[in-house]
This record gives sequence, C-alpha cells and structure tokens, in this order.
Amino acid sequence: MTAEVMSAAPPVAAPATASRLLAGPAWSADHERLAEHCHRLGLRPEGGEWLLRSLQDSGLGGRGGAWFPTWRKWALVAQRSQGRSVVVANASEGEPLSAKDRTLVELRPHLVLDGAVLAAETVGAREVVVYLSRGARAAHHAIARALGERRDAGVSEPPIRIVRTAHRYIAGESSAVVRRISGGPSKPQFAPPSPSQRGIGGEPTLVQNVETLAHVALIARRGSAWFRELGTVGSPGSTLMTLCGNVGRPGVYEVDLAAEVGGVLQLAGIRSAGAAALLGGYFGTWLAADTLPHLPLDAAALGEGHGASLGCGVLAVLPEEACGIIEAARIVSYLAAQTAGQCGPCVHGLKAIAATMTRVASAEAVPADIDRVRQWMRLVRGRGVCRHPDGAISQLGSALVVFADHLGAHLDGPGCVKRHNSGFPRPPRSARGWR
Ligand SMILES: Cc1cc2nc3c(=O)[nH]c(=O)nc-3n(C[C@H](O)[C@H](O)[C@H](O)COP(=O)(O)O)c2cc1C
Ligand code: SF4
Repeated sequence: MTAEVMSAAPPVAAPATASRLLAGPAWSADHERLAEHCHRLGLRPEGGEWLLRSLQDSGLGGRGGAWFPTWRKWALVAQRSQGRSVVVANASEGEPLSAKDRTLVELRPHLVLDGAVLAAETVGAREVVVYLSRGARAAHHAIARALGERRDAGVSEPPIRIVRTAHRYIAGESSAVVRRISGGPSKPQFAPPSPSQRGIGGEPTLVQNVETLAHVALIARRGSAWFRELGTVGSPGSTLMTLCGNVGRPGVYEVDLAAEVGGVLQLAGIRSAGAAALLGGYFGTWLAADTLPHLPLDAAALGEGHGASLGCGVLAVLPEEACGIIEAARIVSYLAAQTAGQCGPCVHGLKAIAATMTRVASAEAVPADIDRVRQWMRLVRGRGVCRHPDGAISQLGSALVVFADHLGAHLDGPGCVKRHNSGFPRPPRSARGWR
C-alpha cells in the first residue's frame, strides 16, 4: 500500500475503554462487599494534607459537570473548617440522560464512601452525608448495606448518613443540596456565600460528586502519577460516560480521557453516524456527526475547537431520521419546567424561549420568532441565581447552529419531514437494567 493510499483512509479511532472505577466483580454480581473491596484495593490510607498535594498533582477535576479542580475546593473548606464542616457525596444525578452516578454507587459503594471519608479527614469535617435521589432505589439499597458492613467491621470514620431528595433537575445544584439537607426544599438558594464558605448548619460544606470521590479513593492508594497514566496533560485520568440514543449497547462506560469520541462510540456499538450527538447532557452541546469520529475528549480541544465540554459525561446520538430542532425544543421545555421558579431568567426568559421553540418545532412560527429567541437567550445568560438558565440555552444555542439548515423547514418551509421524534430513551434506574 502506498503512503498516499494509507493517508487517504481515515484512521479508525482506538477503543477508549478504561478499567479503574468499574474494575472488580462483574456487573451481574451484587454490590462489591467490604471484604472484597479491601482485598482487591488494599486498606484505605488516612486522609490529610498530603492528599491535598496529591490531588493537586493529579489534576483531578469534578465530575458533577463543571470539572472544577478538586483540590482547590478542599483547600477552601479546610481553611475554614476548624473541625466543624460537612462533606456531601452528591449522587442526586438529576440529568435525565445520565446514569453513571447511580451505577457507580450501586456497584462500588465502598469506593465512593472511602473517597468521602478521605475528604472528611482531609478538610476536618465532622460528618459525611450521602445525598441520593429517591428514584435511585438500587443505589440507596447498596449504600445502606455498605454502611452496615462498615459498622459491623468497626471501621473508624466520621458519622455517615443518607439524605434522599425528589428526582428533579436542580436538586443536585450545590446550594439546593445544602438547603435540602438543612431541612428545606431542594431548590437553589441565593448566594453568596457559597456552600464552601457557609453551608449546612452555617458550617463550610464540601459538595462533591460521587464519581469525583471514587477517583480520590484510588488516587489516595495509587498516587497522582498513576492517575496521570491515562488521559492528557490537561485532562488526566479516566471518566464515566453514559452512552445512549442511536447506539447498539447503551450503558455506562469508563473511558480514557486521551481517547476520541469515535473510540467511545465503538464501545457502545454505534449503529450509524446519526444526525448529530448531544455531548454533556441537557446542559450540553450539539455536535454535527462529521465532527465526532476524531473529536478528542480533552477539555481544551473540546472547548476551544467546539465550545463544548464533557459536562456530566452524557453522549446521546440522534438517529438520522430524528429532528434535532424538535429534540432541542423538547429539552428546553423540560428544563423550563424544572426550574425553581425563583428568578426572572427562569420564570420569564426560559418560559418564553420554551413556548416559542415549541411553536417552531411544530412549524407554527415565523423567522422573527427565532430572532426573538436569540435575543432572549442573550438576555438570560449569566443572570440566574444558579447556572440553570445558562445550561438550558447552551444546548439550544448549539442546536440552532448544528441544525441551521433544517430550521428553515420549520420556519417557512413545509414543516418537518423527519419521522422519528420520540426523544432519547431514558436510561434504566438500576445498573441491572443493562446487565
Ligand atoms: C442546575 C444544576 C444541577 C446540578 N446537578 C448536579 C447533580 O445532579 N449531581 C452533581 O454531582 N452535581 C450537580 N451539579 C453541580 C453541583 O452544583 C456541584 O458543582 C457538584 O456536585 C460539585 O461536585 P464536583 O466538583 O465533584 O463536580 C448541578 C449544577 C447545576 C447548576
Ligand atoms: S436561575 Fe432558575 S433554577 Fe436557578 S435559582 Fe433562579 S429560578 Fe431557580
């Protein structure tokens, strides 16, 4: 084969699989028991300042959506704690297309608990709270049994309790988490100060996603250099992703952050290139099908090249025969209905955007309506108490770009010619649904 022919053929992306968080017993087994967990990974070291340095070296970023450097939040809480702070393991997972957090808690509860206890020891917290959605029954069952095993084994650690919340999109936002655990509704509250400064009971509160904590439990045992053996310099390690939509094997996968989206899709058995994909869930970014195969997961490449982010790790592939405008309108309407109804950008802005997009989706709007939607999107951005409106319009803004050609058919054409518009199927509530 000549060099020319070789370079003409697009290179096939390497499969992206990684096996760290989800290593261990088969999924068909029940949750990993304490004895097996300790035998497989060794005993947990005690947390302390050394771990803060190790997390800084590891470059671990939060897996709840924003990828904020984990060590920085820990340092902030540790500075103010004086033995009176709280650590929250956030497993609420309000994103409808995501199942990674409840899968992790259901299969590897001790990994999550180890990470939360390491955080408590490092920042000087008096208590750990595991915060779960009421819908995630299997995850709740696993964590409750894991806590029982630790009590029976006499593991020395701060008190750990479970708080459950209604399954709603905004329940996992950090100030809503603090409000719910303090006995109020799971709605964001007016900030500042942030929970890291003043949270549950007025004490500094570290709200951390459960996947982030599970990575901490491994970094504490194996070190930051080991963590960096996967991923890139800017996006080190592995991450959990929920793959859904037009794929042969939807599910939760652990992937190497050095991989490309094409390699990730191979894991889930992509059926066809599809029309486009939504990366990052309902707060995410639509990406055209032709950009996907060699799109790196690396944060800088995603952000600078495509204005995208992995967010909470959802990758949803839209079938060729589905309409992206209808899907984007459906998502923004869902998010508008999920607000806490506390401030203008949601109460007025998102509501008006959703109502107009619903008319666009059903081909009852005119081009001036889309101009208004774009203007409202500019007005809403950055104005909410929480990031809910920003997330909602990020998804919609990218849809208007990626599906620009098709938008015309909705505004002054014959209406939508696509048939399959049932929306992305929701993942099962338990990992068992995928076994
Ligand atoms: C509307 C909204 C919903 C959120 N939902 C979740 C969630 O379900 N789970 C989660 O871990 N973080 C969620 N977050 C992010 C949290 O506010 C917080 O940043 C995160 O739990 C911190 O953990 P991390 O640093 O490990 O990512 C949400 C944020 C917003 C604005
Ligand atoms: S921006 Fe929306 S979701 Fe966030 S606090 Fe205000 S009303 Fe609630």
